[in-house]
Amino acid sequence: MRIGLIGTGRIGSFHAAALHRNPAVDSLVVADVEPARATDLAERLGVSAAPGVDEAFAAGLDALVITAATSAHAELIGRAARAGLPVFCEKPIALDLPGTLAALEEVTAAGTVLQLGFQRRFDAGYTAAREAVRAGRLGRLHTVRAMTSDPAPPPAAYLPLSGGLYRDCLVHDFDILRWVTGREVTTVYAVGSDAGPAMFAEADDVDTAAAVLTLDDGTLVTATATRCNGAGYDVRMELAGERDQISVGFDDRTPVSSAEPAGPPPPDKPWPGFLERFAPAYEAELAAFVEVVRGTRVNPCDGHEALHALRIAEACELSRREHRPVQLAEIRQA
Ligand SMILES: NC(=O)c1ccc[n+]([C@@H]2O[C@H](COP(=O)([O-])OP(=O)(O)OC[C@H]3O[C@@H](n4cnc5c(N)ncnc54)[C@H](O)[C@@H]3O)[C@@H](O)[C@H]2O)c1
Repeated sequence: MRIGLIGTGRIGSFHAAALHRNPAVDSLVVADVEPARATDLAERLGVSAAPGVDEAFAAGLDALVITAATSAHAELIGRAARAGLPVFCEKPIALDLPGTLAALEEVTAAGTVLQLGFQRRFDAGYTAAREAVRAGRLGRLHTVRAMTSDPAPPPAAYLPLSGGLYRDCLVHDFDILRWVTGREVTTVYAVGSDAGPAMFAEADDVDTAAAVLTLDDGTLVTATATRCNGAGYDVRMELAGERDQISVGFDDRTPVSSAEPAGPPPPDKPWPGFLERFAPAYEAELAAFVEVVRGTRVNPCDGHEALHALRIAEACELSRREHRPVQLAEIRQA
């Protein structure tokens, strides 16, 4: 199988290495709008670099992996659909609903595959939590607490292009919440704070956010995110039911110290970032994509799943700006 990968930055370099290790991938062609980045990566891995995006599309590909900056996703998805290519694309499809819906229409019209990069669906802890909930081991679920805490803010230039903390970061929590519980969000009430570094207020974004979500079976959810968690990269979910409760992401690398005299010791090596925390999940989602392309696996996260998660993020952004609860039904879905 010959795979093209467009966008050789942080996540693109990581995904390219995983694809290169996959025995079902015979050849890999990488490309970037800045050709030197693609050439550097190709030399490091021993794969080929196309001089540009057009040349990558003309390279006789069987499938395409899109890891370019978010602003390029929708156009590349449409172009691949028109070329009949199956696509794996990093989240998000686009930063807004019209762009997302337009790209999804192209994929539907072409009848091609679009798999989105919500890697938490391949994480061992979230998978175990899903099984526990679906098997009824927790009893009736009443409370879920979801959190994503980044260790340090991104570069200031990233913020205006990111879509904001709900669409860029909490969107992962919204996707995995639906996947683990099998329920839909009906209402959100979200707040945010820009009390941290000034660049957040300057970009009309927040550095810390909290949302209360109600699921369609009455389960209550709190979701929080921050860009300023000096202790390390902390992604967790706690699910509590009438019979038992379970915690995802709580292990000997969770960057938190117990205040109790008899509590566990602080972590020796707290998680520093997403690439370390989710390395096995990233590898597994790309292995799944290769199987989807071969026709031996059902798409584990299609574009409509990404649309659901984006709609929750949109509702949170609206709620924060208008200081009111927002029904999901208020957010356009087609
Ligand atoms: N799933 C996750 O956990 C996760 C984590 C990080 C990033 N991401 C997503 O991956 C994408 C890339 O993020 P990153 O952190 O690797 O960014 P990055 O800035 O490190 O890399 C982006 C690369 O894309 C290239 N590029 C930009 N526009 C292009 C175009 N039109 N055509 C070809 N190449 C183009 C840039 O030159 C750069 O090399 C983003 O959409 C981001 O949301 C997802």
